[in-house]
Amino acid sequence: MNDRIRTDIAHNARVWNYWLGGKDNYPVDRAVGDQVTGFYPSIGEVARADRAFLGRAVTHLAADAGVRQFLDIGTGLPTADNTHEVAQRVAPDARIVYVDNDPIVLTHARALLTSAPEGVTEYVDADAHDPEKILAAAGATLDLSRPVAVMMLGILNFVLDTDEARSIVRTLMDAVPSGSHLVLTHPTLEPELGGEGNKAAMAFWNENATPPITARSRAEFASFLEGLDVLEPGIVSCARWRPVSAEACTVAQFGAVGRKP
Ligand SMILES: C[S@@+](CC[C@H](N)C(=O)[O-])C[C@H]1O[C@@H](n2cnc3c(N)ncnc32)[C@H](O)[C@@H]1O
Repeated sequence: MNDRIRTDIAHNARVWNYWLGGKDNYPVDRAVGDQVTGFYPSIGEVARADRAFLGRAVTHLAADAGVRQFLDIGTGLPTADNTHEVAQRVAPDARIVYVDNDPIVLTHARALLTSAPEGVTEYVDADAHDPEKILAAAGATLDLSRPVAVMMLGILNFVLDTDEARSIVRTLMDAVPSGSHLVLTHPTLEPELGGEGNKAAMAFWNENATPPITARSRAEFASFLEGLDVLEPGIVSCARWRPVSAEACTVAQFGAVGRKP
């Protein structure tokens, strides 16, 4: 086993996999996952809504916005409908770079490297706190002079300092041209999304699991999109971003897509 993998403390990538119904997790992840669900019963729904948002956003970007390059940071363990599968269903020549810093995601990364022959997928083991390293590595696969969809789904919540999180986003978006997009999801405590229940769940998480997490307000989330044209319907519960069904629920996870003008 990779000696970076710790089975004595719950890891976000593995607990997220558990909530999504995956098998790549350990007893400690399932125990903490169940305890968090006790505090915040809709957490599984949040995880599923986040992935469904990913599917709709990537489909829109590939099919309607003509984006052919995706930089998916904090990608998580491989699951159904990974970014390259969604994008290459529309555009087999799409190029995808996945980034995560969790050692177990690295050991499963080959499952993400199943590109259509016309396109490319690559995996980079890097930390979101180091956007320059990510850009340097991504530049080996992506042409950063052409539009890129920078995807940060459920990851800025692990950058605890909001100024630093903004600076990471700015560094990434400054490195890509007009026509590039930023795709975001982020948990919140905002009552308008029913987020109050997240508070105890996050406090429990921060005492029992890794890495530590934070929620953000609507205003903080909006600040990540500053300077971008936010696509319709704006900043909403990710479940309500262009839902396929009129019966979409509301989960306490903001979702939005911004286009660099
Ligand atoms: C909540 S999961 C989201 C996975 C996927 N983006 C999704 O929306 O389904 C967060 C992922 O971010 C990764 N992550 C957390 N902190 C990170 C960091 N500092 N650098 C890179 N990846 C990180 C975790 O390992 C995990 O795979």
